[in-house]
Amino acid sequence: MKIHIICAARPNFMKVAPLYHALKNETWAQPVIVHTGQHYDLNMSDAFFKDLKLPEPHIHLGIGSGSHAEQTGKVMIAYEKVLMEQRPDLVIVVGDVNSTVACSLAASKVTYPHNSKLKINNSKISMARPLIAHLEAGLRSSDRTMPEEINRLVTDVLSDILWTPSQDANENLIREGISQDKIQCVGNIMIDSLEMLREKIEMQDVYKDFDLKPKSFGLVTLHRPSNVDNPDILKNLCNILVQISDKIPLVFPVHPRTMKNLEQHKLLKILNNSPNLFLPKPLSYIRFMNMVFNCRLVITDSGGIQEETSYLGIPCLTLRENTERPVTITQGTNQLCALDDVMKKTKVIIQGLVKRYDPIEFWDGRTAKRITMILSNKFFMI
Ligand code: UD1
Repeated sequence: MKIHIICAARPNFMKVAPLYHALKNETWAQPVIVHTGQHYDLNMSDAFFKDLKLPEPHIHLGIGSGSHAEQTGKVMIAYEKVLMEQRPDLVIVVGDVNSTVACSLAASKVTYPHNSKLKINNSKISMARPLIAHLEAGLRSSDRTMPEEINRLVTDVLSDILWTPSQDANENLIREGISQDKIQCVGNIMIDSLEMLREKIEMQDVYKDFDLKPKSFGLVTLHRPSNVDNPDILKNLCNILVQISDKIPLVFPVHPRTMKNLEQHKLLKILNNSPNLFLPKPLSYIRFMNMVFNCRLVITDSGGIQEETSYLGIPCLTLRENTERPVTITQGTNQLCALDDVMKKTKVIIQGLVKRYDPIEFWDGRTAKRITMILSNKFFMI
C-alpha cells in the first residue's frame, strides 16, 4: 500500500514521525513523506526532522508562506500533480494547518485513470481516488474565527477514516453527522514522539544556557493571530510578560510570526528591557521538550503544548478564550486564561497551588502501533 504522509508545519512533524517509523517496518506498507514546505526555516522544520530521525522528505512541494488562500491554493495545485504521478492508495493528513485541508481537498477530487482496488472492512470497493485518513480528527474549538477550526471542519468532512485523540472528539464528529464506522479513537500521537525520545530529552540541560535551575522558570510560546497580530494586544502582552518576569524568569522562544510583528510594531525593546526574560529563536524538539520537562509552568497559545504539559503534569496557562482540546482542562493541567488574569494565576502556581491531573485514555505512546494494526487488519491489496 502506497501511503502518503503529509507534513507541513512545526506541529506536524512530531505527529508524522511515530507513524512513519511504525509503517516503514511493515512489509505491506510503503510510507512516503510529503513535505509541503509551509514551514521552511531550519529551526521550524529541518531541526525537527533531525531530532525525530525522519529521512529527508521523499517529496518536497516548497510552497512557503502566503495568505491563507494563496498557501492553500498553491499546496492544492502542487499536490494534485503529485497525486496523479504517484497514485497513492492512502493519504494521511495530520492536525489542522492549511496544508492539511489543502491536501485533503486535492485528494478528495483527484481521479486516477485506472482504478486501484482496495478492500475495506471486508467489502470490496473500487477506488477512483486515494482514501483520506485524518489523524487528530474531531477536535473543535467552536470558534470559526480561528483558521485552524475551518481546516478541521473541512478536513473531517472530506476524510474516509477519522482517527481521534480522545472520546470528546468522537462525540463532536457523531454530532456533526459523520458515520460512526469511520471514527476510531487511537489516542494522542504526540505522546509517541515524546516517549520515543524521552531518554534524549531527559539527558539535556538546556536551562543552563540561560543560567537557570530546574523548576525555577516559566516557558512561554505565543504565535496565534488573536494574540500577536493586533499591535495593542501584543503590546499589552509584552508588558504583562515583563511584569511576570519580575516574579519568575521566563524563557520565550519567539515564533517567526511573533518576531515579525514585534519588530514591525517596535515592541521588541519592551521585552529586551527585562533581564529575566530570555528570547531565543525557536528551539528544536528535544531541546524544547527538555525545557518543558524542567519548567515550573508554561504560558502558551499552542494546541500541542496544552497536551504535552497535561501528559507531564506541568501547569499550563493557555492564553485563549477556548480550546479544541477540552480534555486537557477536564483531566489535565491546563487552564484557559484571559490576559488580565495571567499574573494572578502565575502567582498561584508559583505558590504551589497546582491542578491535579488524571491519565488520559490512549495517551500512552502506542498510538502509531494502534494505527498500524488498524490498517493491516482492515485494508489489504487484492
Ligand atoms: C501555522 C499554522 C498553525 C500552527 C503554527 C505552528 C495554519 C493556518 N497555521 O501558523 O496552526 O499552530 O503554524 O507554528 O496553517 N515563517 C517563517 N519561517 C517558517 C515558517 C513561517 O519565517 O519556517 C513566517 C511566515 O513567513 C509568516 C509567519 O511566519 O509570516 C507565519 O507562518 P504561517 O505558516 O503562515 O503560519 P503560522 O503562524 O506559523
